[in-house]
Amino acid sequence: MDAIRLCGGAALEGRIPIAGAKNACLTLMPATLLSEEPLTLTNAPRLADIRTMAELLESLGVEVSMLQDGRVLALSSLSLDSTRADYEIVRKMRASVLVLGPLLARAGHAEVSLPGGCAIGARPVDLHQMAMERLGAELELRDGYLHAKAPRGLRGAVIDFPMVSVGATENALMAATLARGTTVIRNAAREPEIADLARCLRRMGAQIEGEGSAEITIEGVDRLSGATHPVVADRIELGTYMLAPAIAGGEVECLGGRLDLIESFADKLMEAGVDVVQTQSGVKVSRRNGRVRAVDVLTAPYPGFPTDLQAQMMALMCTAEGVSVLEERIFENRFMHAPELMRMGARIEVHGGTATVTGVERLRGAPVMATDLRASVSLILAGLAAEGETMVNRVYHLDRGYESVEQKLRACGATIERVKSE
Ligand code: UD1
Repeated sequence: MDAIRLCGGAALEGRIPIAGAKNACLTLMPATLLSEEPLTLTNAPRLADIRTMAELLESLGVEVSMLQDGRVLALSSLSLDSTRADYEIVRKMRASVLVLGPLLARAGHAEVSLPGGCAIGARPVDLHQMAMERLGAELELRDGYLHAKAPRGLRGAVIDFPMVSVGATENALMAATLARGTTVIRNAAREPEIADLARCLRRMGAQIEGEGSAEITIEGVDRLSGATHPVVADRIELGTYMLAPAIAGGEVECLGGRLDLIESFADKLMEAGVDVVQTQSGVKVSRRNGRVRAVDVLTAPYPGFPTDLQAQMMALMCTAEGVSVLEERIFENRFMHAPELMRMGARIEVHGGTATVTGVERLRGAPVMATDLRASVSLILAGLAAEGETMVNRVYHLDRGYESVEQKLRACGATIERVKSE
């Protein structure tokens, strides 16, 4: 398995291009199942998770072409061969469950493997199930698979989510576009990736209002057409690279980044003493002198502080002046990076969903292990600020969500390289 080796200490100067959003692309791709006509996605990120979703769609009979070096995805679901999302693919990536709504709407039935637990928590799919049932589907759990059917088609309904779920909102939204009548999704997730999905579905002919708010209304239509849609910029990749000059010092411009999609995070960074400005071409971040100040962080659904930036923010807080408290409210087990950061000299105490970080003047390089996607990149950020060499092992998690991380950081002056496994 590949590793990333880096030597910290140098300030960063340069520009980093921000790719299309992984999480948006992972819900836009299954939307192709809703129409017989082709869906073309531009500005797609080149990531392992995108290839996994392509593999899943291909197993259902979708033709997938990766054009322009993977930047453009041409998807065509003229006819479907299968409605079964196999365990072998779903276990690799939870987002596979996003084929459930579109398959039910298109074919009237679907068999989707339960994803099982993952490193950051149990992550059940009960809300996805509840949403499909509200739309008139019958679901049964057998042999580790959710067997869903709607022999008389889906019908519009009120779906009132007891808690906010990004994936369940996406499944409900996609399924409702082809349901008979009106669907109202209450307590909907408001993430920019959902607004991007709604924009794409509208291009395909869907009737949707209210995306980006807690209540989305969908008027079902008989059929959807093809479309071409650009994937929105990745706000989590943006936030991650905004932290690079914050932790290492220097100035980096994140090209194509949009501050309006990441306000709660940017506010925290500024509160910590980092300079952040939106420019014509992206977001410029600089830290010139002194250490950052400790700030407290509470993760919450959008527009709150994203859980997907908690690990990276913790890396910054490890070198801040003072004590910061980070509370994780979305996933129950998302502090696995803490013991790894402690191997680099960080002072962190974890009690349940709360981590208390006492900043130190200098981290020290060490061999560390990546446990999940965002944890891996937090270790790289910490390595940028550490004295000496850091070796981040098991980086396959990183490749699931970050494109060419070592090239992007090297272009700004970091000493970083990939060590290929034999
Ligand atoms: C998405 C993102 C992920 C991000 C997360 C929260 C994708 C591909 N992934 O994941 O990067 O960290 O949003 O912003 O877009 N839950 C239930 N029952 C369900 C569904 C969810 O209890 O049926 C719980 C989860 O365990 C979790 C919380 O709800 O505690 C939020 O999860 P959810 O918003 O659904 O996350 P994902 O869509 O899986």
